[in-house]
Amino acid sequence: MPTPEIVRVAGVTKGFAASGGRGRTEAVRGVDFAFGEGELVVLLGRSGAGKSTLLSLVGGLDSPDAGTISVAGQDIGRLRGRAREEYLRSTVGWVFSSAGLLPLLSALENVWLAARLLGHRDSVARREALQALDAVGLGPRAGHRAAELSGGEQQRVALARALVKKPVLLLADEPTAQLDSETGRSVLDAMREATRSGTAILLATHDQAVVEVADRVLSMEDGRLAEPTPAPTIP
Ligand SMILES: Nc1ncnc2c1ncn2[C@@H]1O[C@H](COP(=O)(O)OP(=O)(O)OP(=O)(O)O)[C@@H](O)[C@H]1O
Ligand SMILES: [Mg+2]
Repeated sequence: MPTPEIVRVAGVTKGFAASGGRGRTEAVRGVDFAFGEGELVVLLGRSGAGKSTLLSLVGGLDSPDAGTISVAGQDIGRLRGRAREEYLRSTVGWVFSSAGLLPLLSALENVWLAARLLGHRDSVARREALQALDAVGLGPRAGHRAAELSGGEQQRVALARALVKKPVLLLADEPTAQLDSETGRSVLDAMREATRSGTAILLATHDQAVVEVADRVLSMEDGRLAEPTPAPTIP
């Protein structure tokens, strides 16, 4: 059975007026791609290639100038009101290079808060938060204040905070940028593990090492995706 499609980006373009009002930067130019449930897709490109812009379009934080984006069968450009709110709140999870935890709250409380914001009652939120921390290997650290955790552990708490929403799609923008390669690897392994429950992941990075965990790599340069390498033909 084919994997259900989660993301479809078709003909997407996004430009910004350059500062001072002269000219435009075309950050994303005619981008097309699609991927399915449980896939980990890496968007690889240099600084300024347009990766973060593309992620914010897929995450519904900004609108494309042209083209369409659908996520789990919904055209996100057409979402309004409650449906849009729901999309932003629970369909998509985010992880950035900085964990952005509340430092004086415990790891558990940081994740619990996200579960409470989804509307779970206290005891359910607590159970879900513990499960999410277990899934990233941090169950034993649940009671530690975020400020007491190492950078890699904090980043895994940030991942648990995104995963507690059980998002259809996780968007990760340079999630390993502030970590050494070994610690970065523990975060990537936890992400890889998250795909087993069906979460699709789109991960933007300029770090070639991340490619190792990818199901697929999309190379981005100057707003465009490089042509996919054709599969070798067997005579
Ligand atoms: N809000 C904005 N206003 C004006 N220009 C923008 C805006 N956002 C992005 N850009 C421009 O679009 C281009 C792509 O930026 P983007 O942040 O998407 O790149 P990136 O691949 O994420 O880079 P990095 O690896 O440094 O994070 C850049 O030239 C950037 O200056
Ligand atoms: Mg970026």
